[in-house]
Amino acid sequence: MVVNRTVHAGDIVLDAGAGTGSTGILAAQKTGSSGSVTFFDLSHEMLAAAKKKIAKEHPDAPTSFETGDMCQLPFPDNHFDVALSTYSLCPLYDPAKAALEMYRVVKPGGRVGIAHSTDPTSPAIKWLADRVEDIAWKIPSISMGCRSVDVAPALEQAGGKIVLHTMIGIPLWPFKILIVEKPGG
Ligand SMILES: C[S@@+](CC[C@H](N)C(=O)[O-])C[C@H]1O[C@@H](n2cnc3c(N)ncnc32)[C@H](O)[C@@H]1O
Repeated sequence: MVVNRTVHAGDIVLDAGAGTGSTGILAAQKTGSSGSVTFFDLSHEMLAAAKKKIAKEHPDAPTSFETGDMCQLPFPDNHFDVALSTYSLCPLYDPAKAALEMYRVVKPGGRVGIAHSTDPTSPAIKWLADRVEDIAWKIPSISMGCRSVDVAPALEQAGGKIVLHTMIGIPLWPFKILIVEKPGG
């Protein structure tokens, strides 16, 4: 949904916290050869896996790979048409800072597309989710390492126009999809 609602043919796209590239690869399919996708992640190993996958599935897609911290993106202002983050804001020490960095590097008229963990809306289900989470964090092999975050207020304060703000997933583990446009362009 995040890719479908943000990426068009010919777009220059950033996949921030790209991991093994699932989202960036979908984006590369939509941009086609006239666009490009930059896969960005803190982990060399994750990017090596993404590189392998794209070489196998879309060897001709224009791509680049860069390592770094998405709380301090090494790209100029207004550089990309689209910046994406799927489940990569949740583990960060400052998720709002990273979301604002994504907003900074998109051009006026560009889009930021985010999927992240959020809290269950029902207090009873949230109580249950918190108890499950307490246990899961003690057993790393079953933990998704993905805590609830909320970056919409920071993006709105920066001037972003929220065009989609919806929940997906199951009541115990909901996720939020957030699409924000940068005015102008
Ligand atoms: C749950 S994975 C999501 C990967 C991918 N976006 C997906 O949807 O499959 C989170 C990714 O964020 C990366 N990450 C964590 N902290 C980061 C940071 N400060 N800057 C950039 N990437 C980071 C991790 O290395 C990991 O690949």
